[in-house]
Order: sequence, then C-alpha cells, then structure tokens
Amino acid sequence: MENQLDMKALFSITYGMYIVSTEAEGKLNGQIANAVMQITGDPVCVTTCLNKANLTTEMIQKSGFFAVSILEQDVPMTFLGQFGFKSGRDINKFENVNFLKGMTGAPMVTDWSVSALEAKVIRTLELDTHVLFVGSVVGSKFIKEATPLTYADYHLIKKGKSPKTAPTFGFNTIK
Ligand SMILES: Cc1cc2nc3c(=O)[nH]c(=O)nc-3n(C[C@H](O)[C@H](O)[C@H](O)COP(=O)(O)O)c2cc1C
Repeated sequence: MENQLDMKALFSITYGMYIVSTEAEGKLNGQIANAVMQITGDPVCVTTCLNKANLTTEMIQKSGFFAVSILEQDVPMTFLGQFGFKSGRDINKFENVNFLKGMTGAPMVTDWSVSALEAKVIRTLELDTHVLFVGSVVGSKFIKEATPLTYADYHLIKKGKSPKTAPTFGFNTIK
C-alpha cells in the first residue's frame, strides 16, 4: 500500500524547546524535549513525551515529578548538545549548570531559560517507544525577558538535528 504519510504535513506542527529534568535516588538528570505542552488551565497541567531508552524517562517514573525549563533563542548549541545528544548514563549533565529547586526537588534550569516550572505526575500512558507523562504544575518561575527558542528555529537558524529518540526524528529527512 502506498505510504499516506506526508512528513512535511506533520512538521507544520509548531513546538518550543525545553529541558525536562528530575531528581531520583539523589541524582539530577534532564534532557532536551520539544514534545512539551500545557494541556489544561484549572488545574494547570502539562504533558511531555519521552523515549523509553532515556535515563530521564526512567528517573521520572521513579520520582513521580519533573521540571520543564523553557529555553531561549540564544542558547548555545553546546548546551543543547549536552542535554540533547548525551545521556546522563555517561555524564553528569548538571555539573556547572545553574538551577533552582522548588517543592518537588526537580531542578529548574536557570541558564539559558526564559522560565521554568515543576509538576507532579498524575497520569502516564505507555506508547510503543515513548511514555507520555501528564503533570500537575505545582510551581513556576519567570526568569528573564528573552525570546523562547522554537523547534523550527532550532532547525532553520541553528541548523540543528534531532536524534532518533525525539518523537519528531523524521524532521531531519525533509530538510
Ligand atoms: C531538538 C531535540 C529535540 C528532542 N526532543 C525529544 C523529545 O521530545 N522526547 C524525547 O524523548 N527525546 C527528545 N530528544 C532526545 C533526548 O534529548 C536525548 O535522547 C537525550 O540524550 C536523552 O538523555 P538522557 O538519557 O540523559 O535522558 C530531543 C533532542 C533534540 C536535540
């Protein structure tokens, strides 16, 4: 049967760029995700979709909470690479990174971030490759006036790529 999926159609969906992070068993870790959005307003809930192979996913399943830091347009590629192309299984991603802790203990990154929030997991949905987390937001902080980085600008301006673990991996193929 002919493939009915026009990847260009899917990549019209717009996203931001985020660090999703947590603390479990005394260790901090986080990863880049574009799959983040606010889904309800009362109570305020957000969702993120993370690959089962990622250490961050495993740690959020243990801790039951996560932080989301909204990255700014000027964030260097090296910083994105540290969180988006390396695993916390191999390096300590939070060495030399500034963050705040609220009531959950998840690190809300203040470097290169416009704002950050922390959430408690209230639902999880297992998909084939990823786990969808729904979190109830228990704290948030505006950090500075700056332009948030969009996923499109990451690709078009910064000429970035997406690794296989990103839900939108296929974007690489149509650029
Ligand atoms: C631009 C970009 C977008 C990404 N989006 C996601 C995402 O939405 N979900 C996901 O699971 N991984 C995504 N990733 C991949 C993770 O950040 C990457 O697999 C990371 O190394 C996982 O680290 P960890 O093993 O320390 O958790 C993205 C990476 C990049 C560079």
